[in-house]
Amino acid sequence: MIQRVAIIGLGTMGPGMAARLARGGMDVVAYDIAPAAIERARPMLAAADGVLDNLGIETKGTGSVRLTSELQDAVAGADLVIENVPEKEDIKADVYRNIEGMISAETIVASDTSGIPITRLQAHISKPARMVGMHWSNPPHIIPMIEVIGGEQTAPETIATIRDFIRSLGLLPVLLKKDVPGFVENRVLYALLREVVDLVERGVIEPEDIDTCVSWGIGYKLAVVGPMALLDMAGMDIYHSVSSFLNKDLCDRKDVAPLVTRQMADGKLGIKSGEGVYAYPPEKIAQLQPERAKKLVAIRRILEGKD
Ligand SMILES: NC(=O)c1ccc[n+]([C@@H]2O[C@H](COP(=O)([O-])OP(=O)(O)OC[C@H]3O[C@@H](n4cnc5c(N)ncnc54)[C@H](O)[C@@H]3O)[C@@H](O)[C@H]2O)c1
Repeated sequence: MIQRVAIIGLGTMGPGMAARLARGGMDVVAYDIAPAAIERARPMLAAADGVLDNLGIETKGTGSVRLTSELQDAVAGADLVIENVPEKEDIKADVYRNIEGMISAETIVASDTSGIPITRLQAHISKPARMVGMHWSNPPHIIPMIEVIGGEQTAPETIATIRDFIRSLGLLPVLLKKDVPGFVENRVLYALLREVVDLVERGVIEPEDIDTCVSWGIGYKLAVVGPMALLDMAGMDIYHSVSSFLNKDLCDRKDVAPLVTRQMADGKLGIKSGEGVYAYPPEKIAQLQPERAKKLVAIRRILEGKD
């Protein structure tokens, strides 16, 4: 049974995850190598708690979050360690090596990697049977779906334990049968992003219009009807005839689109640099996150039949 969870890395993902796990009754101890990240995590935890209240997620048992600046303190006695450090294999490998002697043989080590194959990460840990991919979606306290990925050496029991654990929290585990790069959520997202960037680049549509098209067209619908169910809704005959000519015309580039490399070269990275596809003056940035969280909460409550 999982009761004590260690979170390593308190950047974008860690605090929301910690708050959600505590709400599910877990004793969470969270660590970051950077003292500033630990300080930033405090208001993020409080904000995530407020959002969880709005979502109507009830508190199970007596969960809590404790922040620590000592790795040993975070992982000692943990049933589950969730590694949440930057998406760089060497940084993750260092963490696995460092915790080796601090955890028990039974402790499950999960990585929130967005797409590094778990089979590769397993090379950096002894007892690789206990390593598993646990890919949360951002913001982790709002999006209920979590991908579960086994590597070549992951034990079936490890996968089953994590799947059941996610279910016990009232969240939605999605099991991958193969350890493919990018897993499934990001493969689907990146297929979409490749096409929208290409359409903008070819001058077919303006960014604002494609955002309206996707959010209010397929996006809005997909929240209710998944893509495989959508095939049935449209009819396999329709998909067969349209895809027979359209697939040939869809973007299939293997490199990064020039639009993206140009933006990179110009330092237009998006919200973090104040400008990307759109402009983000400081007052807009301050509004954006709470506004988006509010809408995601409202949609989720409706989809769960709470409103
Ligand atoms: N941001 C997303 O939307 C998102 C979504 C799903 C999964 N992920 C994945 O989650 C992981 C973390 O992503 P993020 O966006 O939270 O990253 P981030 O860069 O925002 O935060 C990473 C944190 O790890 C800390 N850190 C670095 N080295 C460390 C070490 N050795 N020990 C402890 N802490 C260390 C950093 O100080 C930082 O606070 C990545 O693998 C990423 O791919 C991210």
